[in-house]
Amino acid sequence: MDENLMPALRRAGSLPDRVKIVEVGPRDGLQAEKAEVPTDIKVELVNRLSSSGLSNIETASFVSPKWVPQMADGRRVMADIDRREGVVYSALVPNLRGFESAMESEVDEVVIFGAASEAFSQRNINCSLAEAIDRFAVVAQAAKDAGMRLRGSISCCFGCPYQGAVPLESVLDVVRRFSDLGCDEIDLADTIGVGTAGQVARVVEAAAKRFPIGQLSGHFHDTYGQALANIFAAMQVGMNIFHSSVAGLGGCPYAKGATGNVATEDVLYLLNGLGVQSGVDIDVILNAGDFISRALGKPNGSRAGRALLARAA
Ligand code: HMG
Ligand code: MG
Repeated sequence: MDENLMPALRRAGSLPDRVKIVEVGPRDGLQAEKAEVPTDIKVELVNRLSSSGLSNIETASFVSPKWVPQMADGRRVMADIDRREGVVYSALVPNLRGFESAMESEVDEVVIFGAASEAFSQRNINCSLAEAIDRFAVVAQAAKDAGMRLRGSISCCFGCPYQGAVPLESVLDVVRRFSDLGCDEIDLADTIGVGTAGQVARVVEAAAKRFPIGQLSGHFHDTYGQALANIFAAMQVGMNIFHSSVAGLGGCPYAKGATGNVATEDVLYLLNGLGVQSGVDIDVILNAGDFISRALGKPNGSRAGRALLARAA
């Protein structure tokens, strides 16, 4: 970018030059859809996303189909997609049974997922935080033995639908536990989108004292319309990995009222305006967002996506 056009914020060095976007639409997005989404639609979505320059796509979830029926076809999705070199395909894995599926499907990155809130843990994975860590330890070890990347996702870092406020110490405790399990990356997730920019900056800064900032990521749902501001605040304190969902798909089956992740199109529009590189082609993402919104028969949840598609029409 021309130095004269570079926004003052970047010149001042308070924003990263480059961020990694982890696209979570095919998993976090689609898992919340009530009607069954055909496998070939999921496959086409992943293929469209992987042709955009994205380097990491959360593609499947090897959880109990009784708990999340929409994700029951994870093996077929993984088998049918065109694997693109350089793209990390991730999958959620709650236990060894899920790990076996992940191995057989040749996923690149195993994602274990816990919560900073005891109440959410019970409702999401039917066990206490301490029990969850024990289960994850086995999965983490198996992933490490197999030479796979390991990511730990922490729900409710900024608030919980059941217990309300979540103490910072609880977040930091799970960061430490996931770090001890050997996670390569740890997500701080705002499951219900209640966090605000100042709070995000505080939590990210505190977490960065326990785990390298370059391996911490922000997973913001946009329920209260704060996600872009939160990403901006997190970038200012050095975070440079963010999760987003094409067309703003999603929610969480165990977090009533939570809307989707921040839309990938909206994040790209923000980053492009700031001159922060992501390596992702917004036009390809726009078309993928249009494709999946039409396939699901619902309005496109990305505001930038809707505006840019309308302008192009
Ligand atoms: P459970 O019922 O306590 O344990 O589930 P279980 O071992 O008795 O399993 C129940 C049944 O599921 C059994 O079948 C198992 O065989 C089967 P049955 O004997 O009754 O016929 N089962 C499995 N089947 C396939 N693959 C497996 C598997 N495991 C068990 N891996 C369990 C415990 C953890 C399995 C369950 O609670 C579960 O699957 N939960 C998943 C919840 C989930 O996926 N939530 C959404 C993802 S988290 C999220 O979205 C948050 C995130 O985006 C960040 C954020 O925004 O906060 C990451
Ligand atoms: Mg989520």
